Amino acid sequence: KQSVVIAGGGSTYTAGIVMMLIENQEKFPLRKLTFYDNDEQRQKIVADACEVIVRERAPEIEFSATTDPEKAFTDVDFVMAHIRVGGLSMREKDEKIPLKYGVVGQETCGPGGVAYAMRSIPGVIELIDYMEKYSPKAWMLNYSNPASIVAEATRVLRPDAKIINICDMPVAIKKSIADIMGLKHENEIVERYYGLNHFGWWTEMTDRQGNDLLPKLKEHVAKWGYSAAGDELNNPLLEEASWMDTFQKAKDIYAVDPETIPNTYLKYYLFPDYVVAHSNPDYTRANEVMDHREKNVFAECKRIAENGTAKDTIIEAGEHAEFVVQLAGALAYNTYERMLLIVPNNGAILNIDPKAMVEVPCIVSKRGYEPLAMGEIPQFQKGMIEQQVSVEKLVVQAYLEKSYQKLWQALTLSKTVPSASVAKEILDDLIAVNKEYWPEL
Ligand code: G6P
Ligand code: MN
Repeated sequence: KQSVVIAGGGSTYTAGIVMMLIENQEKFPLRKLTFYDNDEQRQKIVADACEVIVRERAPEIEFSATTDPEKAFTDVDFVMAHIRVGGLSMREKDEKIPLKYGVVGQETCGPGGVAYAMRSIPGVIELIDYMEKYSPKAWMLNYSNPASIVAEATRVLRPDAKIINICDMPVAIKKSIADIMGLKHENEIVERYYGLNHFGWWTEMTDRQGNDLLPKLKEHVAKWGYSAAGDELNNPLLEEASWMDTFQKAKDIYAVDPETIPNTYLKYYLFPDYVVAHSNPDYTRANEVMDHREKNVFAECKRIAENGTAKDTIIEAGEHAEFVVQLAGALAYNTYERMLLIVPNNGAILNIDPKAMVEVPCIVSKRGYEPLAMGEIPQFQKGMIEQQVSVEKLVVQAYLEKSYQKLWQALTLSKTVPSASVAKEILDDLIAVNKEYWPEL
């Protein structure tokens, strides 16, 4: 049986992850589950509810929450990390500052992602160091954002650490594709995919029997993107309005290269003008999350803790937690699962930097991950990827060298930013609000 610590215990996603872990007790049995966070009050809200949930549904699991790293990281097999350094209030700034200059305001893409990375890097490195100190045999499964730049930082700063960086977005897209194709579960899709995190393309998709899914899928994507025909698109009453828009926009991304099936995040790089025109500079995704998900989840957590029961709870096993459980299970029980992970390239994509952190299918077993060779990629994707890899590498170099110049270069090179002068204006604003978090440049 396994011992898991969730770093970022106070996240609005944590309760859903706990539900998912409990539902998977047969596949991935736990002996111990610990929450760790540096925000005690926030974590307490979620932990008080999860204590009730665990007691009711899986009393054999020893559950606790702590802000003490030694307690949290001792006797651990897996660290599941999803921290947000600076919280949602800093996310709001990451999104709103670029928008002020007519540039994409997004938590992982463009200047927002760069700002967030500068805060995340030390936070994630600290977790690795706790893990290596107190449980050197453990694995860290990291989905703290911005995953791509964080992954590059871990490659440079802790090259031997047992860390795997992952993202649920390809899984989320595959869920829709499975729906579109009439498959029961996205695990029925076998894929070939290459790129960076939030920046990639599928080249092959078959079902488990080897039947090619692409001809029918391409026809659908060309018309509807990833939304099922007839989905209510752009309904402003739906909290998921922006999500639906993104899924529909896949159709325009697809049109740019009909040979491949795109990750939806490419809209930020290929259609930044569209994205900005459809953004509200005064009310961004951070506001949506604070006003809806955070309020609802915390209210529900408090209700559970007060009532002392979660029998009637609306909290559901987080779908986006499913793949983390799958990954942990593959490492613990040697399942040789094929999964998309963010790993050092080392030739997996033949014609780009071997030292880039790429997202490709890997075989996962007790020995860790083994990337599959995706071969050479076309000029268009190669150009885009190399530009973005340079952005990410410059951010990590800027962080290490405390270099204003390199961070300015990183923003200048981002496909979302129109010029070096706009990059500079955004950078200066970001520096002003991130004083507490960034190294002094
Ligand atoms: C997906 C992505 C994450 C991203 C998240 C944002 O899960 O893979 O990288 O952070 O969506 O979700 P939110 O609902 O907070 O905007
Ligand atoms: Mn992601």
